[in-house]
Amino acid sequence: MNKRKSLGRSTVAVHGIGRPPMKLQPVNPPIVQSTNFVYEKTQQLKDYQAGDKSYYIYSRYDNPTVMEVEGHIAGLEKAEKALIFSSGMGAISSTITALVKGGDEIISGDTIYGGTFSLFRDILPKFGVKVRFFDSRGFDGAERLATERTKLLYIESPSNPNLKLTDLEKAAAFAKNHNLVSVIDSTFATAINQTPISFGIDLVIHSGSKYLSGSSDLICGAVAGSKALMGKVWTFRKLLGTNLDPSASFFLLKGIKTLSVRMEKHNENASKVAQFCEGHPRIKRVHYPGLKSHPQHELAKSQMNGFGGIVNIELKGGQAAAEKFADNLKLILNSVSLGGVESIASIPVLTSQYGMTDEELGRAEVTPSMVRISIGIEDIEDLLEDISQALEKI
Ligand SMILES: Cc1ncc(COP(=O)(O)O)c(C=O)c1O
Repeated sequence: MNKRKSLGRSTVAVHGIGRPPMKLQPVNPPIVQSTNFVYEKTQQLKDYQAGDKSYYIYSRYDNPTVMEVEGHIAGLEKAEKALIFSSGMGAISSTITALVKGGDEIISGDTIYGGTFSLFRDILPKFGVKVRFFDSRGFDGAERLATERTKLLYIESPSNPNLKLTDLEKAAAFAKNHNLVSVIDSTFATAINQTPISFGIDLVIHSGSKYLSGSSDLICGAVAGSKALMGKVWTFRKLLGTNLDPSASFFLLKGIKTLSVRMEKHNENASKVAQFCEGHPRIKRVHYPGLKSHPQHELAKSQMNGFGGIVNIELKGGQAAAEKFADNLKLILNSVSLGGVESIASIPVLTSQYGMTDEELGRAEVTPSMVRISIGIEDIEDLLEDISQALEKI
């Protein structure tokens, strides 16, 4: 048999001939698109198993690109630790399942994203977890619902789709009094407009598919909080497999880098749209926390740094008027989701709250005549002109 002097072509194709040196740090983190990591000595693997987290083992557990993004989110949310997920729902379901077990109860605000509501109404009861809903603009209702089985308080502020607020300080105090973990979905605000952890909330959740990524091109989620709680959530992410891929994480980081400038523009444009819509003859009511007419405007000023990019308008003429308005928009897209640089109009009863009964919609105060407009970063004159012409056509 011939003695082989060099590696075969198939072997070289798989292993290469060595990696190029990289002594300087790149401006952007490398996308470590690798399922697994190589150990020079088995001892390193054993060190990892013993708790040395400076090693990686498998990208469903941890990955350097993913962790880089998590560091940015933890910093923004003033949290000890953050984790990112394959979707906002992945973040929510992994967090909730990490913190409750069969027989436990959750107290939740009654105006929350429809997907979260379905998880609470349809999935958690299968595992023996009961969710009770209250009007999270106050805590009297929650006081009446709390039992020794209650383990978690869940709120969304501002809420999807009608921008109701929860007093973050009161929520944190209520949770502490009853020994509950407090969890907030802060997707609408982002860390630029509010940092719930500074008010005493334990865990902050985001659908990163919205403002964090910011260009309607990613599905992802995030959770931030104390190291102790995040350790529990990490185990569930690992075992439920709700982790985000390294390439997607890189693009999420790209979005986060421009978050604060985008939010400034979203805040500014949405304020102007809300003011323009208020008092318009075709509009019954405008929901926007930045308006003096918002019943919780003073609370908004005390716990938010900006009022956000979402304006909810209730049209005169019911769902037919809402559909006509959406169909006649020329620049603003008639679509689902929110938080991108482009403006999007969406009819909640057909999108984010689709599948809820009339009674559930009534309790959440979501009406068929509502249009939720995610105001983008376009020129304000163009947005107002588009809204104005679509209103004229109702
Ligand atoms: C407030 C809020 N939370 C969570 C989610 C779920 O996020 P994702 O679609 O990324 O799973 C959404 C989606 O619309 C949302 O609006």
